[in-house]
Amino acid sequence: MNTLHSIAQVRAAISHARKDGKRIGLVPTMGNLHAGHIALVEKARQRTDYVVVSIFVNPLQFGPSEDLDSYPRTLADDQAKLLDAGAHMVFAPSVNDMYPEGMDGHTIVNVPVVSEGLCGASRPGHFNGVATVVSKLFNIVQPDLAVFGEKDYQQLAVIRKMTQDLCLPTQIMGEPTVRAEDGLALSSRNGYLSPSEREVAPLLFATLKQVAANLQSGRRDFAQVIEEARMVLESSGLHPDYLDLRDALTLNPISDTTEEAVALAAAFLGKTRLIDNLRFKLN
Ligand code: PAJ
Repeated sequence: MNTLHSIAQVRAAISHARKDGKRIGLVPTMGNLHAGHIALVEKARQRTDYVVVSIFVNPLQFGPSEDLDSYPRTLADDQAKLLDAGAHMVFAPSVNDMYPEGMDGHTIVNVPVVSEGLCGASRPGHFNGVATVVSKLFNIVQPDLAVFGEKDYQQLAVIRKMTQDLCLPTQIMGEPTVRAEDGLALSSRNGYLSPSEREVAPLLFATLKQVAANLQSGRRDFAQVIEEARMVLESSGLHPDYLDLRDALTLNPISDTTEEAVALAAAFLGKTRLIDNLRFKLN
């Protein structure tokens, strides 16, 4: 497994692999890898012959008061995990490699509608930053397949739409969320939680499961179901940023004709912002 930093080195290695007839897989990450990331690498390994994992904490997708500086950077540990997982290349560019002329004035990829609302409402510019860096990564690596987690459900929808709209020749695959035994979705940000916050955190997923159970038992008073769930979260110190029910395919608001729904939430626990979602059939 090679760790490469420059775009030119990556292009050379990819063109080599392609000449050998290999199918290329890409797993974009910001590092500090956990079992959720590794599941994506394993999927890419099953479906392609040469797996690239990018590790880049992308400043363009962080707001001014967000955790860009404190975001955990653990390259050596990540490399060891990726070697074990059978990745073929780690692409770990510097900010200067990716944004040599800085970020002001850089071309931006904007995916309207699906980027708005939910995380897009409270993190202005976030999905522009994600779409821009992922399109750069796609152009550098030119993968046949790229694997993303359903944990970031809206992000996956944004990337699918971008790929379709821009006729990018990469297949997008979404993988189920990997969770701790108590249900908490694995996340690099879980490391920010104090021991007592870590005990409360699984309530986020438990509440999403309760929302799904209410709807599956026939309730259609969506606003009331959400309000009850909100109160459960608030009473335990999980302050919802949003808690919403959407159509799982379109991310449009849920309606009586929705067949598959997704309950999505972001909540602050102390200073940590946790997100999670649960997809379920309605009819
Ligand atoms: P990051 O948060 O490092 O996540 C990288 C990939 O891992 C994403 O596709 C994310 O959805 C997936 N992932 C994270 N936690 C997961 C879990 N518990 N189970 C399954 N998959 C999980 O998402 C990003 O980085 C960035 O926005 C990126 C796409 C790399 C662009 O900078």
